Amino acid sequence: MQSYTVQPAQAVRGEIAVPGDKSISHRSIMLGSLASGTTTVRGLLRGEDNLATLRAFQAMGIETEDDGELLVIRGKGLHGLTEPTDVIDCGNSGTSIRLICGLLAAQDFFSVLTGDQYLRRRPMKRVIEPLCRMGAKIHGRAGGDKAPLAIVGTRLTGIDYASPVASAQVKSALMLAGLYADGETRVTEPSLSRDHSERMFRYFGADVTTFPGGVTVRGGRELEGREIVVPGDISSAAFFIVAALIVPGSELLIRGVGVNPTRTGILDILGAMGASIELVDQRELSGEPVADLLVRSSRLNGIEIGGDVVPRAIDEFPVIAVAAALASGRTVIRDARELRVKETDRIAAMAANLRKAGVSVEETDDGMVIDGVEALSGCAAESCGDHRIAMSMLVAGLAARQAITVDDTECIATSFPTFLPLLEQVGIRR
Ligand code: S3P
Repeated sequence: MQSYTVQPAQAVRGEIAVPGDKSISHRSIMLGSLASGTTTVRGLLRGEDNLATLRAFQAMGIETEDDGELLVIRGKGLHGLTEPTDVIDCGNSGTSIRLICGLLAAQDFFSVLTGDQYLRRRPMKRVIEPLCRMGAKIHGRAGGDKAPLAIVGTRLTGIDYASPVASAQVKSALMLAGLYADGETRVTEPSLSRDHSERMFRYFGADVTTFPGGVTVRGGRELEGREIVVPGDISSAAFFIVAALIVPGSELLIRGVGVNPTRTGILDILGAMGASIELVDQRELSGEPVADLLVRSSRLNGIEIGGDVVPRAIDEFPVIAVAAALASGRTVIRDARELRVKETDRIAAMAANLRKAGVSVEETDDGMVIDGVEALSGCAAESCGDHRIAMSMLVAGLAARQAITVDDTECIATSFPTFLPLLEQVGIRR
């Protein structure tokens, strides 16, 4: 097991670019495989999660070429996938297993999806239950809630589904199934989760309509291969944004970051805490808004976080908790129960780690209450096998009095394989 130690930092300065957006990378591989003709993807994130998606489509007969810059996908059309000869292993990736499950439910073959020890603990019923209402035949452990999942592909019928959770994975799984279903598949959600599927379905020519609170997909229309440029992942940029904010004397420019409004909750939350983050040179790439972010160290204040901003920042709460730990006053996070079913229970994991770093944190059912301190104490933190916990605690180490060591840092490769070299590039000592 690899561990990593960061020393207190002087300042975080310079100019960086973060790797491609994980959610958009998954979807570009999926839709490129289902489209007719060639799709090219520039800026693809080659993290373990996305490689799991890529391998899944290769196992279903899709040919790809990758020179490290450009991924070329030879799409075979909506009905071109072939039965995989083995179990498909999604590794740690919830997006891979849930979205591919929706797609496989509509194929005319049998397949099995599994994942690593963490993914096999995560709830799958949220996608399986509505898919079964469409006619899908899917079986899993724990009464059909846990992987491995066995899927007997069949003909599906569109449904009108009101999802009880704001989840882009649920929405996207049903949208993928909806590409094949008879009639219309309509999904509404309690508040808007990331809309990359809606945007990319449209970009590939799918019959998709959005309306306030939801999306409708009509089945049967073929997709066309496209050229995609993936913007930098704001969820990866988040670690460097918080690093620059909490280390005095910092100024960091992060180039080419995706600023889709369904993902910029982190900017709104940190802005409300007093952060100085400027959006420079806003532009659009393959239907997604992009900007450069200029971040300067700032004095942060504790705030109350809840409601519609939560799904717009859902992956950023571990590092938001670090910012809150160094803010003056109290930060209350609520409406974030979903954090308990991420790669690990992120409420429990961050509460335990921040306490080790000398912060008073109260766990609640759907969030936490954090009382900020002047500086963190050095400690040995645990990643719990979760990439975002590992990176958050390494960022915490930059603003601690002594070194923070994080165990089991291999998991960082699932979403941000270049995180540690990039930290060193902006002047962080190990
Ligand atoms: C994702 C959706 C979110 C997010 C995950 C990526 C996606 O999960 O946490 O990292 O690409 O659709 P939920 O749908 O469970 O909220």
